[in-house]
Amino acid sequence: MSEALLVTSGKGGVGKSTLAVNLAATLALMDYKTVLVDADTGLRSLDVMLGLENNVVYDLTDVAEGVCKLRQALVHQPEVPGLSMVAAAALRDATSVSREKMKEIVGHLKERYAYVIIDCPAGVDEGFRVAASGADRAIIVTQTDAVCVRDAERVKGLLERAGVTDVMLAINRARREKLKKGQESACESIARRLELPLIGIVGENDAFLNAVQKGRPLVLDDADMKATFEEIVRRLRGEELPVKPLGKLSFWQWLMKDYRDY
Ligand SMILES: Nc1ncnc2c1ncn2[C@@H]1O[C@H](COP(=O)(O)OP(=O)(O)O)[C@@H](O)[C@H]1O
Ligand SMILES: [Mg+2]
Repeated sequence: MSEALLVTSGKGGVGKSTLAVNLAATLALMDYKTVLVDADTGLRSLDVMLGLENNVVYDLTDVAEGVCKLRQALVHQPEVPGLSMVAAAALRDATSVSREKMKEIVGHLKERYAYVIIDCPAGVDEGFRVAASGADRAIIVTQTDAVCVRDAERVKGLLERAGVTDVMLAINRARREKLKKGQESACESIARRLELPLIGIVGENDAFLNAVQKGRPLVLDDADMKATFEEIVRRLRGEELPVKPLGKLSFWQWLMKDYRDY
């Protein structure tokens, strides 16, 4: 059974594309054939994050408009067998792909791939609705700040209205030293407030930026991050795995923690 999973959030810059790329790479490394669909028409980024910007000939809008066959718009990641992507159009807007076409394209992709990961644009307008129209389930990405959490709450309501009711929460850029000592983790209380199952906590990690520059998903080079995303996949597949708070601070992180907070 294959499924289409939307990675979304209200705000931009929360880490949707980062999480989508690393989740897709992890799924493929775990032998689930996966395709990433960049639904961020006009602001595409997955091609760069996968180091495939020179390999894109056709995009999602071309498929929707019948300029090419779906097969021609699939770009394969040579370093991760089983990982492909469909780029977003660089110079068009969200209305260039209708909700019906998106649903149809995702339906065809589900015939060939175990997972279709749809990277949602920022905002809650037509681009969001187009991206959501193909999805069976969704992961809402949030950071721990109040604005982001309120956005996540709003997006949850909009997903419900779009008919996506199987929704999970991923918290990104969590910083161990910010979570209060001795109290329940801030992440768990956010998940409880949003009434969403917590599928994973991804820590703040400067290496993500480097990974984008190299055009390689971080999970290929960072064993800790790979383990984090493997656990997310296992939860996605129904395993009841407790979400661990972020690992202990290393000695150097502990030494620096008071400075980093300024
Ligand atoms: N866990 C993280 N730690 C550090 N930087 C991150 C993390 N997640 C995302 N970023 C950075 O934040 C920026 C925005 O991320 P991106 O995935 O493009 O967000 P979105 O798709 O939601 O707009 C990028 O520069 C990315 O490298
Ligand atoms: Mg993005």
